[in-house]
Amino acid sequence: MKSFIFCLFCAGALLMVHGCNPRQEPDNIHAEIDSLKSLTEELKPGLGEFMLLIRAHHDSLGRAIGLKDFERAAYEVDEIKETAEKVKKLNITNDKLQHPFAELYKKWLESPLQTLADAASKKNEQVLKNNFISLTNNCNGCHYENNMPFMKIGY
Ligand code: HEC
Repeated sequence: MKSFIFCLFCAGALLMVHGCNPRQEPDNIHAEIDSLKSLTEELKPGLGEFMLLIRAHHDSLGRAIGLKDFERAAYEVDEIKETAEKVKKLNITNDKLQHPFAELYKKWLESPLQTLADAASKKNEQVLKNNFISLTNNCNGCHYENNMPFMKIGY
């Protein structure tokens, strides 16, 4: 009787383990991964959406420099950098970009943003003013180079 009860217990345990781990067909798993991948792509914001964010921080940076608000200027530079980092990390691209965003960022934005960050921490108004103009020119340089010549910032 004891071993009968033990066997019943084992059978129950086996059923439970099996029930909790229904075997999935490999085909289903691949199809699910594919559909999650395409959903992720669809949910990614487009380059234009990130650009609108960058523009908001660019404009606030200009106002902060005008008001000699160095702390705010440092914050806005940092936000532009963070937004650009996200574009790189998510591999955001579109049919207008002639090269990967990471390459274009290095060419047009990295250096003026670094100079602006340094100038904000040193509260150097003149360097901030000059390099804000360079930054804006470089936004437009990248737009010109990437099929967006009409997208002129600062006009
Ligand atoms: C890597 C090159 C590049 C750089 C650098 C760049 N842009 Fe852009 N920007 C683009 C491209 C490409 C588009 C077009 C996006 C699209 O097709 O939706 C664009 C679009 C925009 C738009 C229009 C967005 C919309 O959907 O209406 C704004 C505003 C903008 N950029 C602001 C800026 C500002 C401000 C800077 C500088 C701080 C800047 N961009 C730097 C490539 C760049």
